[in-house]
Amino acid sequence: MLSASKRFLAHSLKFPRGGAFEPGGGRGEIPHQTPIERGNSMKTVSRRIAQIGFNAGKLAAAAALLVLAAQSALLAQSEKAAEIRIQADQVTGHVSPLFYGLMTEEINYSYDGGLYAELVRNRNFKEDPKDIVHWQLVQQGGATGSMSLDPGTPFNEAVPLSLKVVIDKAGGAGRVGIANDGFWGIPSKPNTIYKATFYAKAAPGFTGPITLAIVGDDDTSIRASAQVSGITQEWKKFEATLTTGNVPVTAENKFVLTAANPGTVWFGFVSLFPPTYRDRPNGFRPDIMQLLAGMKPAFLRFPGGNYLEGNTLETRFDWKKTIGDVAQRPGHFNDAWWYWSSDGMGLLEFLNWCEDLNMEPVLGVYAGYSLRGGARITLHSQLQPYIQEALDEIEYVTGDVNTTWGARRAKDGHPAPFKMQYVEVGNEDGGDNQPGSYETRFAQFYDAIKAKYPNLKVIATDTVTTRVADVIDEHYYRRSEEEMASHASEYDSRRVLPAGFGKAPREVFVGEWATRVGDPTPTWTAALGDAAWMVGMERNAHLVKMEGYAPLFTRVDPDGLQWLTDLIGYNTLSAYGSPSYYMQLMFATYHGDDVVSIAAKGVPSMEWQPPAGFGIGNVVRPGQKVQTAGSRGPRPQRVPVIPQTGPVQQPAPQQVPLMHFDATRDSKTGSIYVKVVNRASTAQAVHFALTGVSSVEPNGRTITLTGSGPDDTNSIKEPTKIVPVIANVSGLGTDFTRSFPPYSVSVLELKAAK
Ligand code: AHR
Repeated sequence: MLSASKRFLAHSLKFPRGGAFEPGGGRGEIPHQTPIERGNSMKTVSRRIAQIGFNAGKLAAAAALLVLAAQSALLAQSEKAAEIRIQADQVTGHVSPLFYGLMTEEINYSYDGGLYAELVRNRNFKEDPKDIVHWQLVQQGGATGSMSLDPGTPFNEAVPLSLKVVIDKAGGAGRVGIANDGFWGIPSKPNTIYKATFYAKAAPGFTGPITLAIVGDDDTSIRASAQVSGITQEWKKFEATLTTGNVPVTAENKFVLTAANPGTVWFGFVSLFPPTYRDRPNGFRPDIMQLLAGMKPAFLRFPGGNYLEGNTLETRFDWKKTIGDVAQRPGHFNDAWWYWSSDGMGLLEFLNWCEDLNMEPVLGVYAGYSLRGGARITLHSQLQPYIQEALDEIEYVTGDVNTTWGARRAKDGHPAPFKMQYVEVGNEDGGDNQPGSYETRFAQFYDAIKAKYPNLKVIATDTVTTRVADVIDEHYYRRSEEEMASHASEYDSRRVLPAGFGKAPREVFVGEWATRVGDPTPTWTAALGDAAWMVGMERNAHLVKMEGYAPLFTRVDPDGLQWLTDLIGYNTLSAYGSPSYYMQLMFATYHGDDVVSIAAKGVPSMEWQPPAGFGIGNVVRPGQKVQTAGSRGPRPQRVPVIPQTGPVQQPAPQQVPLMHFDATRDSKTGSIYVKVVNRASTAQAVHFALTGVSSVEPNGRTITLTGSGPDDTNSIKEPTKIVPVIANVSGLGTDFTRSFPPYSVSVLELKAAK
């Protein structure tokens, strides 16, 4: 089998002869001798998309490379040019204001150890019922003591235990205490304020003081510290700030709480926060939020994904246990992805996240089904509490302060209701293989939601026939660029939805999708497959109303992920966007609101052999993971396994287009945005003919993303290797030819007058 890069170079381009125009990525052919444009491309100074925050020197170098690449490509390109016909006055759909969004769940340490900025791991000591994981006993300067989990001294109802620290011998330089190793370390950055909170009580005779410090792993470098005294025999909350000076930027630290007096002290909850996005208490990591803001997401689908369902009723996303004071939240074992969830990222935090980025919530409600049949509740009498749970949840999000749950939200700190239009019933309920189960469950949820909230649109996650779902959520995970590209035109022929969807007009929500090549984040070949797919969705925006790549986040540290190929990667100190992230950022930034007619001829293609056993057109359901026995139960391996759904057979080879197109127009300004994906290893000329406009200015812009080869990628060490470059261009009009670099995704911005 060829390696990815060899495969890339080995494909032979086919230029079809004869045939008709096809939407956006056609395989028809026409004899074509259009003279190619020379010498007028990418002349001007490039600049990069503003929001990303970019190193200007690197940009200039990248831009220069791009210009060089484009020029040499112009010389090397084939005589043949694909033909693109754009009818700008033929509007085929409208890009929904909610089109580009985010899908999220607790996977790959998305929140704990990720977006949620808490630095202390196992902050209420419940993560493991037997071990005090992520905490170590500190005994310094000859002092001695011990620590143990103490169910006899419960912290509160949600946390029915505490951490008992007995200081037997201490004094002077002799200190005893506890140290937390955080999520792959505790960060220290210069001149930064860290906010600590802890709850403690003591046996008679001990009042402190307790010293809190961020300490280097060498145990001697104190990055910042503070002292708290006044510990009493009752549980009490203590707060302190720790301010660093000119300390190194490093994650090789611990958070340490020690005392120099003998005695016994219990801790119920220990927390440490760095600065958060917009200074929100209990808030989010600014670097990750800034990356997300760049994507201009319009909605957030949460809380899952498998995380919504859990493996059992008890381990579902039980939203009522995720609101209010964080010290009173029990947390739960996230058995969908095999790690502890503090539930610091609770329902209101998801909504705050929406508010911070101007996103609309798309709320997934638990629908009586947990993974692997862990729960399946279809009987009305048994399902009713969960239907009520969903109605209460919707009220918490949207109800005013005079409603029960709206009042609770106000008490939790947010009196204003949130705007929400979509509610999703369950997640991937096609995985519930009991006949009629989802149908029955969906109908009951649908009726109850519509009765109380008639304006809400209800999303189904699988085919239903007894109710007309407003929207269907479809998930597509593909195993290669070619596989994704082979499906890129699928929605062109989906004018009518499949049987079983009733008669009403439908909306599609592509709620999870990805080309799964890249560990931990997508490589350039994946981004090209993703771009082909995005073009297909955008071209069919009359049908596809919302889309969200999944998964969104991953830790890049060892054992930091359960699912390969995730959009944004981070460690304790920094975060980066993958090539696919930048592609999506480009798409969401540069588009019009009207989709206009586009047809292609003479598009080069390659022969692709689909892998045996893969059902073309199937929705791939990667819910099944290879698991190995681990000390704390089976844990998913870093191996993507996609279950086969049909008999294993060798499918016929396919011709897959190497270029993909769509066009949108800004109905106010008239500007037209043409998206061109060139997956070929050589530059490709394209001849454009536009009608339905009175003129197109000769000067416009291109926004281009290129990779040097399929394995090229961004990483925590090279976070901006592949980023979009903007160039002013000339030679445009209603009839022109341009060349597109090898392995590139481009947006061509045409200033057109209607
Ligand atoms: O995105 C990862 C998982 O894929 C989601 O949790 C689930 O919905 C899908 O199977």
